Amino acid sequence: MPTAVRLPHDVKDLALANSGKRRIEWSDQFMPTLGIIRKRFAKEKPLKGVRIAACLHVTTETANLAITLQQGGANVALCASNPLSTQDDVASCLVRDYNMPVFAIKGEDHGTYYSHLESALEHRPHISMDDGADLVTLAHTKRKEYAKGLIGGTEETTTGVIRLRSMAEEGVLKYPIIAVNDADTKHMFDNRYGTGQSTLDGILRATNVLIAGMKIVVAGYGWCGRGIALRARGLGAHVVVTEIDPTRALEAVMDGYEVMTMNEAARIGDLFITVTGDKSVLAKEHFQKMKDGALLANSGHFNVEIDIPALAKLAKSRRTMREFVEEYRMSDGRRLYLLAEGRLINLSAAEGHPASVMDMSFANQALCAEYVVKNAKKLEKKVHSVPREIDRMVARIKLHAMGIEIDQLSKAQAKYLSSWSEGT
Ligand SMILES: NC(=O)c1ccc[n+]([C@@H]2O[C@H](COP(=O)([O-])OP(=O)(O)OC[C@H]3O[C@@H](n4cnc5c(N)ncnc54)[C@H](O)[C@@H]3O)[C@@H](O)[C@H]2O)c1
Repeated sequence: MPTAVRLPHDVKDLALANSGKRRIEWSDQFMPTLGIIRKRFAKEKPLKGVRIAACLHVTTETANLAITLQQGGANVALCASNPLSTQDDVASCLVRDYNMPVFAIKGEDHGTYYSHLESALEHRPHISMDDGADLVTLAHTKRKEYAKGLIGGTEETTTGVIRLRSMAEEGVLKYPIIAVNDADTKHMFDNRYGTGQSTLDGILRATNVLIAGMKIVVAGYGWCGRGIALRARGLGAHVVVTEIDPTRALEAVMDGYEVMTMNEAARIGDLFITVTGDKSVLAKEHFQKMKDGALLANSGHFNVEIDIPALAKLAKSRRTMREFVEEYRMSDGRRLYLLAEGRLINLSAAEGHPASVMDMSFANQALCAEYVVKNAKKLEKKVHSVPREIDRMVARIKLHAMGIEIDQLSKAQAKYLSSWSEGT
């Protein structure tokens, strides 16, 4: 049998593929929802002939999504959505065993990161699948020629959705995008429980500190912040929350956390975790007040939440203490420790979210890709929510896979709930 010609790719080392293969199989066990969709896709081929460029964290879970799309008939190219989150063995396995054009190397520099995005676009996709909107942005700026062929796209994360909504509001978005992050079965679980657990996991793997008794400052009490605060408290930390939204601040108070400004928190925190999607949440005025030994971590999408240039300016010297821990020594002798270069700590120092939560996020991604193919012509060039039927279907399949049954409305109950005159 003739061997297929290997498509262009750029990964660290194909010799790593065996480990990637085993780890992809391991996470697949925890992704039953995606597994059910994969079986149907393999039979029905709803993505036949569709080229997809995916810019996602190249992890075992993403590999299972990419394989599902391929089984559905799609031709998938993959690049990383963050320079530090790639799992090199996974990238190698996708190239070697699935002949997938993958462009991702853990620790790639800024230039390589963007050239990899361009390589994914050179795949001439019909659908873009983004995590942070870098691919869409590239197809709307430097590589506009690729926007013409794009019929639709999906976006995985909060920060990407915010960017895309502002493009749509300015009338510059050239094709419709489905905001996967907006699905209940995505943000309520992935952002909250996934980020909650994996952020602590990343911090622990990077530092091996004891969380019990620590004062942990969580900046941002959104879906991710709630999860991080919950897990930090569960490990025995005293949790302080900072917010700019009064309702969310109030929620944090009533959930039992101490809420204060970052200026106040800066003085008392042992560990700071930013997860706001905003910039310079930790800035010069905060670094100046922090205690000796304070740890600084970010789990928000971009590495702008901690003002690293300002930190570097204040520092008299710097050294790497251990992988993912850099010491910044201030002129007064205080030492501040920046984790994972201020990039997503859970994906840099750990493996990102557990597979069973990505199961739901990526089930949404796969079903939304199918939805885009079926409905692209009807969709306006704006950001759309995940259709309710898809969201609920993902919840139903997940519960079924967990062996959990729930009650059904009786006819009388359905009538009662939909009527304004019953029960009066
Ligand atoms: N690490 C991961 O794996 C992962 C997973 C999902 C989302 N994310 C990213 O995490 C970030 C947060 O996502 P989310 O879903 O929680 O968003 P969200 O919108 O639900 O919450 C963000 C919160 O931060 C608050 N905030 C904004 N600026 C602030 C400031 N200066 N100080 C304090 N609070 C501030 C907002 O009021 C909001 O409550 C985004 O960048 C998102 O893309 C990361």
